[in-house]
Amino acid sequence: MARIIGALATSHIPAIGGAIAKGLEEDPYWKPFFDGFGPARDWIRREKPDVAIVFYNDHGLNFFLDKMPTFAVGAAPEYRNDDEGWGIPTLPPFKGAPDLSWAIINHLVDREFDIVTCQEMLVDHAFTLPIKLFWPEGGGPLTVPVCINTVQFPLPSAKRCVALGRAVGEAVAAWAGDKKVVMIGSGGLSHQLDGQRAGFINKPFDLKFMQSMIDEPEWAAQYSIHELVEKTGTQGIELLNWLAARAAAPGPVHKVHSNYHIPISNTAAGMLALEAA
Ligand code: DHB
Ligand code: FE
Repeated sequence: MARIIGALATSHIPAIGGAIAKGLEEDPYWKPFFDGFGPARDWIRREKPDVAIVFYNDHGLNFFLDKMPTFAVGAAPEYRNDDEGWGIPTLPPFKGAPDLSWAIINHLVDREFDIVTCQEMLVDHAFTLPIKLFWPEGGGPLTVPVCINTVQFPLPSAKRCVALGRAVGEAVAAWAGDKKVVMIGSGGLSHQLDGQRAGFINKPFDLKFMQSMIDEPEWAAQYSIHELVEKTGTQGIELLNWLAARAAAPGPVHKVHSNYHIPISNTAAGMLALEAA
């Protein structure tokens, strides 16, 4: 039987990829960000998860505004990165886990989620950076991309994203594959890249949200999408991916490590590593 060992989450600011490519981890601007990953990387080296389910949002690479699924699940043997070019240089393809993908897809449809299934799928910085950050030496896990629309209204409610995560967790727990599985939530925390509130950051909300991921994982689901955008910014709403990832690793957890640093780019950078208790 598969075993869900925990949940990881991190911001996915594209400039992180540029910093990795240029070896800037010790640079004073970047050090407080990269230093936050040490204990999580140690935990991953120790626990050796075989598969990562990556809850993320596409930013116009695989889905553009003309065709925007609310939820899409990858079922490909591999996923190629073909990002916009100002982050990490092109990476070798990420290996898929089609057996697990189909187990998840079948369970989600059975549970009345009307998802899009993708037997070919390009993945952008929101998918590649968490893997690169948590597995810096390479040799990363098999992957299943679960894409949530956080980009073009109408967005799925936080409550619905929690339900999606929970159903993904059920599918993984019931899967016969003898693998260790870790959930990953990508994006956030508070940021707004454009409009009158460009540069908006809400540290008190972010810190409360990060704590809730540990001990009250559905706390943020009390808010509507518009309330969450007001509290976190138009791109801070990417926290939906964190919520879904945590819901997919249900039950009590203990914190391996967390980090919160303002700013990277115009964004509050958060990192959280949780181990299933
Ligand atoms: C930035 C953050 C994002 O989440 C993103 O997708 C693109 C850019 C930024 O802070 O620069
Ligand atoms: Fe983003």
